[in-house]
Amino acid sequence: MTSETPAPEASTAHGETFDFRNKLSEMFASSPLPPEDLMFNLGMYTRSSLFVKFLVLHDLYKRFKHVPGVMIEFGTWWGQNLVLLENLRAIHEPFNKQRTIIGFDTFSGYQDTSEVAQESIDTHSGYETGMDHQAYLAELLEVHEGNNAFGHIRGNHKLVRGDVTETAPKYFEDHPETLVAFAFFDMGPYEPTIAALNAIKPHLMPGSVIVFDELTWAGAPGEAIAFKEVFADMKYKIEKCEFYPSKAIVTVL
Ligand SMILES: C[S@@+](CC[C@H](N)C(=O)[O-])C[C@H]1O[C@@H](n2cnc3c(N)ncnc32)[C@H](O)[C@@H]1O
Repeated sequence: MTSETPAPEASTAHGETFDFRNKLSEMFASSPLPPEDLMFNLGMYTRSSLFVKFLVLHDLYKRFKHVPGVMIEFGTWWGQNLVLLENLRAIHEPFNKQRTIIGFDTFSGYQDTSEVAQESIDTHSGYETGMDHQAYLAELLEVHEGNNAFGHIRGNHKLVRGDVTETAPKYFEDHPETLVAFAFFDMGPYEPTIAALNAIKPHLMPGSVIVFDELTWAGAPGEAIAFKEVFADMKYKIEKCEFYPSKAIVTVL
């Protein structure tokens, strides 16, 4: 199976910016750096719209690192955030090998229909990685873990494949002991978002941080509707993400 690049409409870039983006891709593909040096100098090819994601994740990590529990991403796609979280864990808390990282995804992209806020389905497409990617990502995470401090202790990553409306309730039923320190919601549509929110709700604590990718995107209201329903009876603080205005950060009080 092949992956599809997310629809350009989803991007804020256009025209000349795309030309420069394509040029950067070409320069990366034909880089004169030997592979070892290229891996060590990836910042040469990291554009600001990607670099900001690293900064944001680092800021988020500082917010929840005093809270015990797991880090979760709902909607992992290729898994970059999971790798970044493993490496932030190694930087911030090299001795904390109990900081399990859990990624949920179908690995086959989006479901087709929604009973609530169908617009959220219509505005999302692609993101299919192919089923083999789960195994590749699991190995990649293990390699990163092995590279990091205390790398001989491994196995702190879990990838849960399938529709979150089924996998999230089942995961937390099977693991009632779970404490959730951090959850990143990046699926979009209503059904998976509300299923995952309801699944983690009993496992949140004061200080737990939850990030929503598109809470204020008018073209995709499903995430916001799900959030408002589930958090109606909770005490929380909500902020716009400083460097990434489309993301919203919720801290449980
Ligand atoms: C926008 S992408 C995630 C991007 C990723 N978080 C990143 O920053 O690189 C959305 C992901 O949600 C997944 N997804 C959508 N609906 C889902 C569902 N019902 N259950 C599980 N995963 C789902 C898709 O397969 C896709 O990989």
